[in-house]
Amino acid sequence: MNSMEERGEIVIIGAGLIGLSLAFELRRRGARVAVFDRFEPAKAASWAAAGMLAARTEEIADEPMHALCNEALEGFPAFVERVREASAIDPQLRLDGIVQAAFDEASLARLQERARSLAAAGIAHTLLDARGALALEPALASNVLGALLTHDEGSVDNRLLGRALLAALARMHVQVATSEEIELEFDARRVCGVRTRWGFRPAEIVVNAAGAWAPHVAGVPEVCRPPVEPVKGEMLALAMPHDFIRHTMWLGGCYVVPRTDGRLLVGATGERVGFDHRVTAGGQRQLLDRVLQGAPSLAGFALVEQWSGLRPGTPDERPILGPTPREGYLLATGHYRNGVLLCAQTASLLADEIEGGTPIDPAFALARFAENGAAVGA
Ligand code: GLY
Repeated sequence: MNSMEERGEIVIIGAGLIGLSLAFELRRRGARVAVFDRFEPAKAASWAAAGMLAARTEEIADEPMHALCNEALEGFPAFVERVREASAIDPQLRLDGIVQAAFDEASLARLQERARSLAAAGIAHTLLDARGALALEPALASNVLGALLTHDEGSVDNRLLGRALLAALARMHVQVATSEEIELEFDARRVCGVRTRWGFRPAEIVVNAAGAWAPHVAGVPEVCRPPVEPVKGEMLALAMPHDFIRHTMWLGGCYVVPRTDGRLLVGATGERVGFDHRVTAGGQRQLLDRVLQGAPSLAGFALVEQWSGLRPGTPDERPILGPTPREGYLLATGHYRNGVLLCAQTASLLADEIEGGTPIDPAFALARFAENGAAVGA
């Protein structure tokens, strides 16, 4: 296989964290890359997310997905460092652990069980009683019964990471452009290129990383359409004094993520309502009820932001990565709740496949849906 420098251009559809991370990785390896999106770069789910790096506390039971998320977490600090160096923007990676708090006996028993399985897997954690939980996080409600701190997890500021990737790609002379018109062209065997507002652009490889919009990219044969559906998540942010809440926490029904700029992000709802991304009274009430139950002293702080995003959900909650029935046309979508965590790992798997033909675990292939008899299509 020719070196990346000698090969034809790789076009990525979708300028979210997945598409931008892949462009960054491919360019580092010498490839010619361009990224197109119908919307503003790094502004959809990648902007709306909370940036949680919760490979363990998401409690993913599915084995291939569990392994993928854990590998992603291990590789994340080195990726952030590369992006920071290439962009001079610090995406504020924090791996000081994630806290899960229990407010009733059943939840406490689940945390104790969880601590036993973390111990068996050799994952660093601390199980805290009520006093320990309040010492670690004094803003927790006084009826807290205990908490589990899973070390080495945390968050990244996904909005800063998006800005950093865009700055790095600009320095690396990678075009990242918005075009209302994006239509792929295929012959009977393979992808040929992409038509944008600037005309036709031939491509050796096209990767669809368009998140929830991936099934709707124009020109794509039906057999290559990923079964991806938007899952809306509403969020809000409070302005809080520095360190009022110190860790990313699960509070039973919602999560909170402190940012170094003084905001506390609260998330998230999960609704299958198509592309409706309105922020609703009901969604916001749900978040406020849950967060104030877990940490009542937040009630006095200003509500400074409310927004929503569309996660790309798949029928089995695994992403769809790698080849399709048309040569040269690949998918990198369907990351559902873990797009930020999985952006670098996805980039490295896709780049290995493109560069050296290293196959991606078939558990993530589009073909799994056809094999199961499920419809492949939007
Ligand atoms: N990763 C958290 C969420 O999707 O709400």
